[in-house]
Amino acid sequence: MAYPYRHEKEVRLMSEAFGDPAARTIEGWRARGGYQGIARALEIGRDATVADVKASGLRGRGGAGFPTGVKWSFMPKDGTRPHYLLCNADESEPGTFKDREIIRWTPHQLIEGCLVGAYAIGASHCYIYLRGEFFEATQVLAKALEEAYAAGLAGKDILGSGVEIDVTLHVGAGAYICGEETGLMSSLEGRRGEPRIKPPFPAAVGVFGMPTTINNVETLAAAAHVARHGGEWYRQWGTEKSTGTKLFCVSGHVNRPGNYELPLGFPLMELIEDVCGGMRNGAALKAVIPGGSSVPIMDAGECVSCELCYEGVEAAGSMLGCASVVVMDETADIVKQVRRMADFYAHESCGQCTPCREGTSWAARILRRIEDGRGTEDDLDTLMQISEQMTGTTICVLSDSLAAPIISSIQKFRNDYLALIRRGERVGAA
Ligand SMILES: Cc1cc2nc3c(=O)[nH]c(=O)nc-3n(C[C@H](O)[C@H](O)[C@H](O)COP(=O)(O)O)c2cc1C
Ligand code: SF4
Repeated sequence: MAYPYRHEKEVRLMSEAFGDPAARTIEGWRARGGYQGIARALEIGRDATVADVKASGLRGRGGAGFPTGVKWSFMPKDGTRPHYLLCNADESEPGTFKDREIIRWTPHQLIEGCLVGAYAIGASHCYIYLRGEFFEATQVLAKALEEAYAAGLAGKDILGSGVEIDVTLHVGAGAYICGEETGLMSSLEGRRGEPRIKPPFPAAVGVFGMPTTINNVETLAAAAHVARHGGEWYRQWGTEKSTGTKLFCVSGHVNRPGNYELPLGFPLMELIEDVCGGMRNGAALKAVIPGGSSVPIMDAGECVSCELCYEGVEAAGSMLGCASVVVMDETADIVKQVRRMADFYAHESCGQCTPCREGTSWAARILRRIEDGRGTEDDLDTLMQISEQMTGTTICVLSDSLAAPIISSIQKFRNDYLALIRRGERVGAA
C-alpha cells in the first residue's frame, strides 16, 4: 500500500501534502499556497485574525477541545509585558501519531500556524516544544526554520510588515507529563516537568512569568488555513459545535490503520468499516477508545450510532480527546489493556499529588493481580474507590485520565474481570 493511503471520503486540508517530499521545502510549500495565511493575517490585523479564528469555531486539537479564538482573546492587550506562544509538539498520548506527521511532511504548515498564532496574541516569540524521540521531525523542522528565517518569514520584519516573531525549536526529553501545558512550561524554563496549580492561568502568568498561550500542533496547522481562507470557509465542514476537519489516528484491529483527515461528525462505524477497510479478519467489534488512552472505553453498542465530534462522542458516553481511535475486536483482553494503561500512568505520574502518585501504582498492582488470576470481587470495589478518589482531586488531570478507563471498563466489561477472578478461584480451589 502506497503511503499515504488516501480514502475518497477524506477532506485533506492539513494532510494533502503528506507523502510529498517537495512540500517540506519552502518553495514547495509556497507553491501550494503556503504562507498566504500569515500574509492575510498581517493585512487584516490582530483583532480581525482573532475574530476570524473565533468565527471559524476551531477547537483545540490537543485534547480538551477549548475554542482556540476564545483562548487567544484571553491574552492581555496592554502590551506592557512580553507575550509567548508555546506550540505543544510533545505528542505523548498513547495511540496518537498525527502531530509528528504534520511536522515531518509539512513543517512550514506548522511554522505558518505558529506565526499566525503568535501574531494574533501579540507574541514576538514562539517556542515549539518537540518530543525528543522525534528525530526525523527535529531535523526536518530545524531545516524548515532556517529556510523561513532566510526568506524573511520569521524573525524581524516578517514579509516587510515591521512585525517581529522569532520561532525557536526546543527538544524535550520524552516525558508524558511535559505534554501537559503547565508541565511543558516548567520544562521549557529548565525545571522538572511538573504541572502547576491553576489559577493563575497561563494567559495571566505563563512561561517565564509572562502571558502565554499554549496550542497543539494540529490546532496551529488548522489556524493557518483559517487565516488564509477566513472563518466562514472553515465552517463548511463539521457540525455546528465541532467545525472543520480533524486528523483521526486509527490503530488496533482494523485492516487499514493510519491517519485519516475527516470532517468532524463523521460516523465512527463508517470510519471503521469503510475508511479503515473493516475489522481485521472479519472479527466482531468489542470496544473502542475514541480519544487516546485518557477517555472512557466504549462498548460495541455505544459505537453503533456514534458521530465523531466533541458532542457526538460525549453523547455516546466518552470523549473525543485528541481523536486517537483505538479499535479492539472480540479477541482483545480488556483487563490487560487497562492494566497496561495503569502501568503507563503510574510510570508517567510526576508524583506531586498523593491520589495520583499512590493511586496509579496501587491500581496497576491490583489490575496485575486480577490479570494473573489472583484477584477477588472486592478488588473491583477497591479499584472503583481509588478511581473516584483520583478524579478531580489533583493538580493536573493525569490521574483522572487513568480513572476514566478503569471506571468505564469495570462498568461495561465487568464480566471480563469476573472471568479472570473466577478462573483464578477455580485454579486456587483445585
Ligand atoms: C498528562 C497530559 C498530557 C498532555 N499531552 C499533550 C500533548 O502531548 N500534546 C498536546 O497538544 N496536548 C497535550 N495535553 C493537553 C495540553 O495540556 C493542552 O491542553 C493543549 O496543548 C492545549 O492546546 P489546544 O488548545 O490547541 O488543544 C496533555 C494534557 C495532559 C493532562
Ligand atoms: S496529577 Fe499526577 S501527574 Fe498531574 S501533577 Fe499531580 S502527581 Fe503530577
